[in-house]
Amino acid sequence: MKFFLDTANLGEIREAAKLGLIDGVTTNPSLVAKETNIIWQEHVAAICDAVRGPVSVEVTSLDTEGMLREARESVKISPYVVVKCPLTMDGLRATRTLADEGTKVNVTLCFSAAQAILAAKAGAAYISPFVGRLDDVGQDGMQLISEIVEIYRNYEWKTEVLVASVRHTMHVIEAARLGADVATMPSKVLMQLVQHPLTDRGLEQFLADWRKRENQK
Ligand code: G3P
Repeated sequence: MKFFLDTANLGEIREAAKLGLIDGVTTNPSLVAKETNIIWQEHVAAICDAVRGPVSVEVTSLDTEGMLREARESVKISPYVVVKCPLTMDGLRATRTLADEGTKVNVTLCFSAAQAILAAKAGAAYISPFVGRLDDVGQDGMQLISEIVEIYRNYEWKTEVLVASVRHTMHVIEAARLGADVATMPSKVLMQLVQHPLTDRGLEQFLADWRKRENQK
């Protein structure tokens, strides 16, 4: 399963890329709004240079023509740019046109299997079901992932299931168990994956015993 970092923060991206733990990045207008004093196109280029993998850049137009205009500008920045379009009829129309032009599209704000079917039929390269936001309203986000993976397998659709709105390590583990292609997560969740108290305690004991042996020499 591929790991994408869900952030527009260049420092976090560079740190994770240095660890060799991420395969791409996803951004969205809210994440970009957190980054001050940036020139967005230059910032996207820097992110692409840091991660050298797919970088999702979301359109902000609501109409197909506006989305296409933005998308065609974004892809000029880097071959790593993946255009992010919302799961609306205009977004699906833009996805179809862009896919026919050879541009990869990540269809975002997916909350149902029906929407995911439409995204695959529109030629999306990725579908982003928001599991955390479904959990927030008392639904089962990972159940949606299970349905989408099952449906896509039935028809051998190539659209990659990109689990988004990941809030904790169990989302990542469950996504892997279900066979999702990608999990995109905040840096905090990525760093939590490595943590276990028994590892810390075991290492501490190993070193204490080693020091004891050294002192007995
Ligand atoms: O970037 C898309 C998705 O990951 C957003 O997550 O936490 O804002 O629901 P969140």
